[in-house]
Amino acid sequence: MHTRKILVTGGAGFIGSHVVRRLVKAYPQYHIYNLDKLTYAGNLMNLLDIEHATNYSFIKGDIVDDAFVTRLFEEVQFDGVIHLAAESHVDRSISNPTEFIKTNVLGTVNLLNAAKASWKDGFDGRRFYHISTDEVYGSLGETGLFHETTAYDPRSPYSSSKASSDHLVRAYFHTYGLPVVISNCSNNYGSFQFPEKLIPLAINNIKNNKPVPVYGKGENVRDWLFVEDHAAAIDLIFHQGRNGETYNIGGANEWKNIDLIHALCSIMDRKLNRQPGTSAGLITFVKDRAGHDHRYAIDFGKLNRELGWKPSLRFEEGLEKTVDWYLANEEWLKSVTSGEYQHYYEDQYIKR
Ligand code: NAD
Ligand code: DAU
Repeated sequence: MHTRKILVTGGAGFIGSHVVRRLVKAYPQYHIYNLDKLTYAGNLMNLLDIEHATNYSFIKGDIVDDAFVTRLFEEVQFDGVIHLAAESHVDRSISNPTEFIKTNVLGTVNLLNAAKASWKDGFDGRRFYHISTDEVYGSLGETGLFHETTAYDPRSPYSSSKASSDHLVRAYFHTYGLPVVISNCSNNYGSFQFPEKLIPLAINNIKNNKPVPVYGKGENVRDWLFVEDHAAAIDLIFHQGRNGETYNIGGANEWKNIDLIHALCSIMDRKLNRQPGTSAGLITFVKDRAGHDHRYAIDFGKLNRELGWKPSLRFEEGLEKTVDWYLANEEWLKSVTSGEYQHYYEDQYIKR
C-alpha cells in the first residue's frame, strides 16, 4: 500500500506541534515530515512524546531557502502539504517587518512552486493546505463577524504578510489549478505556546510575581480557541475541505483582554493558594500596541455546516486545563524562558 507522505511546515511551533502529534497518532498509514527552521519559536521539546514514532521524521530547514525547498520536494514526493511555518507574533512584526515578508510571503511562494513542480504529473490525491489567520480581515467595531467573504484589510506587518500569502495561494489555484485550501483562525491558546503571547506570558508572570502588562486600557477583544480544537479542524479540512475554498475557524468566545486577565488571575490565586485578588494586583497598564486591532470575531458557520466542526471545550474549562499544564510543566517553561531549549536539537540530532 502507498504510504501517504505529508509535509507539515512549522511543526515544532505551538499549533504545528499539536497538528503533528494528532496526525502521527491518528494516521499510522501516513508518514509525517516536520520541516522547521527552529527559530526562537520552534521547539523540539514540544514533540518529545512522538519523536521516535516510526511514521514521523524531523527535517531542519528554512522555507525561505528556495534551492533547499526545491531539492526536498524532489527527494521526497509529498502527497500533501500543511503549511504553518511563519513568523507569528504581531509585536515582533512591528519592530522587524522584513523578516515577516521573507518567511511568510517568500517562504510560502517557495513551497507553492516546489509543490507545483513536483506534482507536474497530475494533482489527483494531492493537496496544499495553507494555515492563515483572522487578522487578514482587519479590525471590527463593537458588532459584526468576519465571514469568508469579508474583504481583506490587514493592518499590521504580520497580518499584511499573511494576507499576501493567502492571495498567492489562491492565485496558484486560479492560475495553475494547484489543489489548495485555506483556513483563517482566531486566537489559539493551550499547551506549548511560546510565552510571548498573552495567555502564557500572563501565567508565567503571575506565577513569578512579575507585572502582567496589559496594552492600552485592555479593551481590545479577541476570540479564543483551544489549540487542540484548531488541530481537529485542520485535520478535517485537510481531508474533507473543498479545493479553492476558505474556511473560517473560531471559538465563538469573545473576551476583552482585561476581563480575560482577571479570569486568569482568579484561577491562578486558587491554584497557587493565594488570597483572592493577589494576582490581580500584578496587572499593569502599559503603552498600547501601535495600530492595535480593536476586535476580532469569527463566523465559522461554513465549517460547521459543511464538515460538522465546532469547538469542543468551554473556555473556562480550556483555561483551567491550560493553567494546569503550565504549572505542571515548569521545566518546559524554564527552558523556554532561559533559551536552554535551543540546545536540544544539537544535543539530540547532531552530537549523538
Ligand atoms: P509559532 O510562532 O509558535 O510557530 C511557528 C513555527 O514556524 C516555529 O516552529 C518556527 O521555528 C517555524 N518557522 C519560522 N520561520 C521558519 C522558516 N523560515 N522556515 C521553516 N520554519 C520556520 O506559530 P503558531 O502560533 O503555532 O502559528 C502557526 C501558524 O498558524 C502560523 O502560520 C500563524 O500565522 C497561524 N495562526 C496562528 C494563530 C495563533 O493564535 N497562534 C491563529 C491563527 C493562525
Ligand atoms: O487572531 C489570530 C492571531 O492571534 C494569530 O494570527 C497570531 O499569530 C497570534 O499571535 C494572535 O495575535 P494577537 O496579537 O491577537 O495575540 P497576542 O497574544 O500577542 O495578544 C492578544 C491580545 O492581548 C492583543 O489584543 C494584545 C494584547 N496583549 C498582548 C501581550 C503579549 C497585551 O495586552 N499584553 C501583552 O503583553
